[in-house]
Amino acid sequence: MLRQLIIASGLVAFASAACSQIPNNTDKAMHWWQCDSGASATFYNATPYDQTGNNYEYPIHLSKPIVVKTDLDNHGHVYSDPNLLSTVNLWSWSDQCTWSSVPTLGLLKNLNACENGVPCPVKTGRQILPVTLDFTKYNAIIKMLKDNEPYQLEYILNDKTSGDSSCLMSQVNFFIIFQNLCILI
Ligand SMILES: *[C@@H]1O[C@H](CO)[C@@H](O)[C@H](O)[C@H]1NC(C)=O
Repeated sequence: MLRQLIIASGLVAFASAACSQIPNNTDKAMHWWQCDSGASATFYNATPYDQTGNNYEYPIHLSKPIVVKTDLDNHGHVYSDPNLLSTVNLWSWSDQCTWSSVPTLGLLKNLNACENGVPCPVKTGRQILPVTLDFTKYNAIIKMLKDNEPYQLEYILNDKTSGDSSCLMSQVNFFIIFQNLCILI
Protein backbone atom coordinates (compact mmCIF):
# COMPACT_ATOMS: atom_id res chain seq x y z
CA MET A 1 0.00 0.00 0.00
CA LEU A 2 2.73 2.43 0.99
CA ARG A 3 4.66 1.45 -2.08
CA GLN A 4 1.62 2.14 -4.28
CA LEU A 5 1.15 5.53 -2.65
CA ILE A 6 4.73 6.49 -3.30
CA ILE A 7 4.44 5.45 -6.93
CA ALA A 8 1.11 7.28 -7.32
CA SER A 9 2.37 10.51 -5.75
CA GLY A 10 5.49 10.28 -7.88
CA LEU A 11 3.31 10.11 -11.00
CA VAL A 12 1.18 13.08 -9.92
CA ALA A 13 4.27 15.18 -9.21
CA PHE A 14 5.67 14.22 -12.60
CA ALA A 15 2.44 15.04 -14.46
CA SER A 16 1.99 18.46 -12.87
CA ALA A 17 5.59 19.51 -13.50
CA ALA A 18 5.68 18.56 -17.16
CA CYS A 19 4.10 20.46 -20.04
CA SER A 20 0.80 18.81 -20.90
CA GLN A 21 0.89 19.86 -24.54
CA ILE A 22 2.39 17.22 -26.85
CA PRO A 23 4.31 18.75 -29.78
CA ASN A 24 3.24 17.38 -33.18
CA ASN A 25 1.86 14.12 -31.70
CA THR A 26 5.29 12.75 -30.82
CA ASP A 27 3.54 10.32 -28.50
CA LYS A 28 2.23 8.53 -31.62
CA ALA A 29 4.88 8.83 -34.33
CA MET A 30 8.02 10.63 -35.39
CA HIS A 31 7.30 14.02 -36.93
CA TRP A 32 9.88 15.33 -39.41
CA TRP A 33 10.49 18.05 -41.95
CA GLN A 34 13.27 19.27 -44.17
CA CYS A 35 15.07 22.20 -42.56
CA ASP A 36 17.01 23.54 -45.53
CA SER A 37 16.05 24.94 -48.93
CA GLY A 38 16.33 21.53 -50.62
CA ALA A 39 19.05 22.78 -52.97
CA SER A 40 21.14 19.57 -52.71
CA ALA A 41 18.54 16.98 -51.81
CA THR A 42 14.79 16.65 -51.41
CA PHE A 43 13.52 14.42 -48.61
CA TYR A 44 10.25 12.52 -49.18
CA ASN A 45 10.14 10.38 -46.08
CA ALA A 46 11.97 9.45 -42.85
CA THR A 47 10.91 6.47 -40.77
CA PRO A 48 12.57 5.02 -37.66
CA TYR A 49 13.50 1.33 -37.52
CA ASP A 50 15.32 -0.85 -35.03
CA GLN A 51 19.02 -1.67 -35.34
CA THR A 52 18.38 -4.37 -37.99
CA GLY A 53 16.50 -1.95 -40.22
CA ASN A 54 13.68 -4.49 -40.55
CA ASN A 55 11.24 -3.54 -37.81
CA TYR A 56 9.48 -0.21 -37.45
CA GLU A 57 10.28 1.15 -33.97
CA TYR A 58 8.43 3.80 -32.04
CA PRO A 59 9.10 5.32 -29.54
CA ILE A 60 12.78 5.09 -30.32
CA HIS A 61 15.00 3.18 -27.89
CA LEU A 62 18.28 4.99 -27.41
CA SER A 63 19.76 2.04 -25.53
CA LYS A 64 20.51 0.51 -28.96
CA PRO A 65 21.49 1.95 -32.32
CA ILE A 66 18.54 2.88 -34.54
CA VAL A 67 18.14 3.13 -38.29
CA VAL A 68 16.26 6.02 -39.87
CA LYS A 69 15.32 5.11 -43.43
CA THR A 70 15.16 8.26 -45.51
CA ASP A 71 13.66 8.45 -48.98
CA LEU A 72 15.49 11.24 -50.78
CA ASP A 73 16.39 12.59 -54.16
CA ASN A 74 20.02 13.69 -54.22
CA HIS A 75 20.30 16.27 -56.97
CA GLY A 76 23.67 17.54 -55.72
CA HIS A 77 26.83 15.42 -55.96
CA VAL A 78 28.16 12.01 -54.99
CA TYR A 79 29.23 12.33 -51.34
CA SER A 80 32.07 10.26 -49.96
CA ASP A 81 34.51 9.53 -47.15
CA PRO A 82 36.09 11.58 -45.55
CA ASN A 83 34.45 14.77 -46.83
CA LEU A 84 30.88 14.21 -45.72
CA LEU A 85 30.33 15.50 -42.17
CA SER A 86 27.34 15.04 -39.89
CA THR A 87 26.13 17.19 -37.02
CA VAL A 88 23.32 16.42 -34.57
CA ASN A 89 21.63 19.13 -32.49
CA LEU A 90 19.21 18.22 -29.75
CA TRP A 91 16.41 19.95 -27.84
CA SER A 92 14.15 18.79 -25.04
CA TRP A 93 10.52 19.82 -24.50
CA SER A 94 10.56 22.07 -21.46
CA ASP A 95 8.02 22.47 -18.66
CA GLN A 96 7.13 25.81 -20.30
CA CYS A 97 6.12 24.00 -23.53
CA THR A 98 9.10 25.32 -25.49
CA TRP A 99 12.13 23.62 -26.97
CA SER A 100 15.28 24.02 -24.93
CA SER A 101 18.71 23.15 -26.24
CA VAL A 102 20.45 20.05 -24.83
CA PRO A 103 24.23 20.51 -24.74
CA THR A 104 25.78 17.80 -26.90
CA LEU A 105 29.23 18.70 -25.56
CA GLY A 106 30.66 18.96 -29.05
CA LEU A 107 30.45 15.18 -29.33
CA LEU A 108 28.02 15.19 -32.23
CA LYS A 109 29.45 18.04 -34.28
CA ASN A 110 31.21 17.60 -37.64
CA LEU A 111 31.71 13.85 -37.35
CA ASN A 112 32.89 11.85 -40.35
CA ALA A 113 29.41 10.87 -41.56
CA CYS A 114 30.65 7.86 -43.54
CA GLU A 115 32.15 6.41 -40.34
CA ASN A 116 29.11 7.36 -38.28
CA GLY A 117 26.11 5.72 -39.83
CA VAL A 118 25.82 7.01 -43.40
CA PRO A 119 26.39 4.31 -46.07
CA CYS A 120 28.92 5.94 -48.42
CA PRO A 121 29.35 6.89 -51.15
CA VAL A 122 25.92 8.54 -51.32
CA LYS A 123 24.95 8.36 -54.96
CA THR A 124 22.87 10.89 -56.85
CA GLY A 125 19.19 10.41 -57.66
CA ARG A 126 16.18 9.05 -55.78
CA GLN A 127 17.08 6.43 -53.20
CA ILE A 128 16.39 4.95 -49.78
CA LEU A 129 19.29 5.92 -47.52
CA PRO A 130 19.33 4.05 -44.20
CA VAL A 131 21.14 6.23 -41.65
CA THR A 132 22.24 4.59 -38.41
CA LEU A 133 22.20 6.72 -35.27
CA ASP A 134 24.11 5.26 -32.35
CA PHE A 135 23.82 7.19 -29.10
CA THR A 136 25.08 4.29 -26.99
CA LYS A 137 28.58 5.77 -27.39
CA TYR A 138 27.43 9.05 -25.83
CA ASN A 139 26.43 8.18 -22.30
CA ALA A 140 27.21 11.71 -21.12
CA ILE A 141 24.39 12.97 -23.36
CA ILE A 142 21.93 10.15 -22.73
CA LYS A 143 22.27 10.72 -18.98
CA MET A 144 20.79 14.21 -19.44
CA LEU A 145 17.63 12.91 -21.14
CA LYS A 146 14.34 11.84 -19.56
CA ASP A 147 12.45 8.70 -20.49
CA ASN A 148 9.56 8.80 -22.99
CA GLU A 149 9.52 12.58 -23.40
CA PRO A 150 9.50 14.60 -26.62
CA TYR A 151 12.83 15.56 -28.15
CA GLN A 152 13.72 17.50 -31.24
CA LEU A 153 16.70 16.24 -33.21
CA GLU A 154 18.29 18.10 -36.08
CA TYR A 155 20.48 16.10 -38.44
CA ILE A 156 22.77 18.09 -40.77
CA LEU A 157 24.96 16.66 -43.51
CA ASN A 158 27.69 18.86 -44.89
CA ASP A 159 29.99 18.06 -47.80
CA LYS A 160 33.38 19.76 -47.52
CA THR A 161 34.23 19.21 -51.20
CA SER A 162 31.16 20.80 -52.80
CA GLY A 163 29.88 22.91 -49.92
CA ASP A 164 26.49 21.16 -50.28
CA SER A 165 24.44 20.62 -47.15
CA SER A 166 21.09 19.21 -46.18
CA CYS A 167 19.12 19.23 -42.97
CA LEU A 168 16.39 17.08 -41.49
CA MET A 169 14.47 18.04 -38.37
CA SER A 170 12.65 15.39 -36.36
CA GLN A 171 10.52 15.40 -33.25
CA VAL A 172 10.37 12.08 -31.41
CA ASN A 173 9.82 10.37 -28.13
CA PHE A 174 12.87 8.49 -26.88
CA PHE A 175 12.93 5.58 -24.50
CA ILE A 176 16.11 6.01 -22.50
CA ILE A 177 15.72 3.10 -20.14
CA PHE A 178 14.17 -0.28 -20.69
CA GLN A 179 10.41 -0.21 -20.92
CA ASN A 180 9.87 -2.86 -18.26
CA LEU A 181 12.00 -1.19 -15.60
CA CYS A 182 8.86 -0.55 -13.49
CA ILE A 183 8.68 -4.30 -12.80
CA LEU A 184 11.78 -3.85 -10.65
CA ILE A 185 10.12 -1.30 -8.33
C1 LIG B 1 5.44 21.14 -35.51
O1 LIG B 1 5.95 20.88 -36.81
C2 LIG B 1 6.04 22.01 -37.68
C3 LIG B 1 6.59 21.53 -39.00
O2 LIG B 1 5.81 20.50 -39.53
C4 LIG B 1 6.93 23.06 -37.07
O3 LIG B 1 6.98 24.20 -37.90
C5 LIG B 1 6.43 23.43 -35.69
O4 LIG B 1 7.33 24.33 -35.09
C6 LIG B 1 6.33 22.18 -34.83
N1 LIG B 1 5.76 22.50 -33.52
C7 LIG B 1 6.48 22.49 -32.41
C8 LIG B 1 5.75 22.81 -31.15
O5 LIG B 1 7.65 22.21 -32.39
